[in-house]
Amino acid sequence: MHEQIEKLRAEIEAYPVSSPLDVAAFRSQFIAKKGAIAELFHALRCAPPAEKQALGALVNALKDRALQRYKSLAEQWQTPSAARTSEKEDWTLPPPTDTLGGLHPLTRVKNKIVEAFVQLGFHSVEGPEIEDDWHNFGALNFPPNHPARDVLDTFFVDPKHNKLLRTHTSSVQIRALGVQKPPIRIISAGRVYRREVVSARANYFFHQLDGCYIHRDVSFAELKQTLLYFVKRLFGTQCAMRLRPSYFPFTEPSAEVDMSCHPCGGRGCNLCKYTGWVEIMGAGMIDPAVLQHCHIDPEVYTGFAFGLGIERIAMLLYGIRDLRLFVENDIRFLKQFAIYS
Ligand code: PHE
Repeated sequence: MHEQIEKLRAEIEAYPVSSPLDVAAFRSQFIAKKGAIAELFHALRCAPPAEKQALGALVNALKDRALQRYKSLAEQWQTPSAARTSEKEDWTLPPPTDTLGGLHPLTRVKNKIVEAFVQLGFHSVEGPEIEDDWHNFGALNFPPNHPARDVLDTFFVDPKHNKLLRTHTSSVQIRALGVQKPPIRIISAGRVYRREVVSARANYFFHQLDGCYIHRDVSFAELKQTLLYFVKRLFGTQCAMRLRPSYFPFTEPSAEVDMSCHPCGGRGCNLCKYTGWVEIMGAGMIDPAVLQHCHIDPEVYTGFAFGLGIERIAMLLYGIRDLRLFVENDIRFLKQFAIYS
């Protein structure tokens, strides 16, 4: 047994250490519960009784020496957890990777949309989320009894003073048209609120981007070309667009804008309900009455306007099937967008 003790002492002294991992290996080889010194203590039980005491002292001294070397190695390699003798430390775990934050997918998509229109000479304007009836409805030609004004569709903050949460970003356009002179090319992005039952396709708040262009002789053809440029820039040149006649109180004529379904390439999927087309925005020529409300002479100027849902565009761009994911802040969802530029 003397021989064994001496051999172990030599190993402890000569054990090569060149990294914190070696420090941990030293610990598990010699000091740990199932290490070499523990084995010696075990063997001690079978030693001849006369020698037991002397051998026990030698093994104890060896143990002290091993602990001493371990402590100084741990200090030398500056591994505070190696200095601890906890059995629970797992030195084989990979180090935590640095996690960088990223922009929220809706912010990314909004920026992409804004960039596309800025390229065409539009500039961004902002407006309040708490609006009055005039800017959200009246100036946009909504008749007094229009169903959108109903408390079932609109959140009223202060009904007595007609204060409400804006139901669309068209209200911001009205504010800007009131102070700017044509030619005007503006876009406004922001959060809007509607009384909706929360589901995969609807929420009581979401994000919109409205735009308008007012000048002499602005035509429907210009509207169509502007939107086609936008769709192709965001979704690629293979993407198709179509307009369907529609109705909005503030545009005449009005259209619903569809694009070929991006995730399925127009072949048909449950997102486009197997039609190959998805609606992405409303648009039209600004009603002369709206121009008048903003003190712009409809005899001289014409204009087009459009409004789109940012969530809808983001869902198509990234193949997202549930609107609620945008507001749940689930890190597993958000993390995926750090790779997109
Ligand atoms: N404001 C309309 C909506 O919220 C969208 C729209 C904007 C339609 C501009 C036509 C012109 O649905």
